[in-house]
Amino acid sequence: MKTEIAKTDSPNEWSRAVARALDLLDAGEVVALPTETVYGLAADALSTAAVAKIFETKERPRFDPLIVHLPERNWLPRIAKSSKLVETLIAKFWPGPLTVLLPKTELIPEIVTAGLATVAVRMSAHPIFARVARNFGRPLAAPSANRFGRISPTRAEHVLEELDGRIPFIVDGGATEHGVESTIVRPEGVGLTILRKGPITREQLEEFAEVRSETATGSRPDAPGQVASHYAPHTPLRIVEDISSVEVPHGQRYGALLWSSAPFSETFVESRRLSTTNDLREAAANLFRELRELDRAGLDCIVAEATPETGLGAAIMDRLRRATHHK
Ligand code: TXA
Ligand code: MG
Repeated sequence: MKTEIAKTDSPNEWSRAVARALDLLDAGEVVALPTETVYGLAADALSTAAVAKIFETKERPRFDPLIVHLPERNWLPRIAKSSKLVETLIAKFWPGPLTVLLPKTELIPEIVTAGLATVAVRMSAHPIFARVARNFGRPLAAPSANRFGRISPTRAEHVLEELDGRIPFIVDGGATEHGVESTIVRPEGVGLTILRKGPITREQLEEFAEVRSETATGSRPDAPGQVASHYAPHTPLRIVEDISSVEVPHGQRYGALLWSSAPFSETFVESRRLSTTNDLREAAANLFRELRELDRAGLDCIVAEATPETGLGAAIMDRLRRATHHK
């Protein structure tokens, strides 16, 4: 299969790309689309056959459920059971990078939720994704557009690296805004548990609910995809507090992923900086691209400088820790 990439720089290109994506989705195909977090691989969430293509394309195990993206808020009661707290959260954070786990209705096929009684739901704020979803008029299942266990794509070129020849179409919407996947929460009465740290921070959620976070170790039945080995680059990765203390074994090539103000050093053959202004949002947006590029540089080891763990730093450190695990 030839994979086509559509630019969206002019209004004409934009409309043509959206129309082509809609044609393919109508025909039961998968399409890669930008969201505000990472690129997603979308298909009709109500069609078992279309959703099966997502699993095959990504080589994703069938026990790992998908996120359902709504075309409109008023779709929610058709696919899931809501609550007072959920209404508050979605009024505040939708459309946007917050995914909520809710008891599902019959309408959602089993394949989407991997047989679980809950469905993960969000509504994307990206203009391209939102337009496609709205015009499609039905929910879209969309995991990140990478092969299973790999780093999520934040640019159209990354999607091509992951899925060239396996999907018909990628809409190129440029670099994604947040750069890390949506925050996933499971509401429980007046409280909630954070299952995946993301752009909506713990601090933001604490305004509305009592918040607990679960740190993933191994595969757990309540967040099947949150296995520790996710986001693995091919190159070994280490996290350090003090980058200047790193010693490189003789003859080895090390790369550095600096957080903000540490000086570049000749110890490393490649150095990248996540932010030049101590800005965790900028750092998150750059994280997966820099990791991908360092991973391609033929290094023996990537050394990542720890970021603060407040706000978005919690999501960044979560992804870095997962990147240190090797299968
Ligand atoms: O930002 C995002 O959320 C992106 C964009 C494309 O929307 N999507 C994304 O999907 O990251 P994915 O499939 O790569 O990650 C979804 C995570 C997986 O770890 C999956 O196991 C978990 O959500 N998940 C989905 N449905 C679930 C459910 N019913 N119960 C527990 N975990 C669930
Ligand atoms: Mg993923």
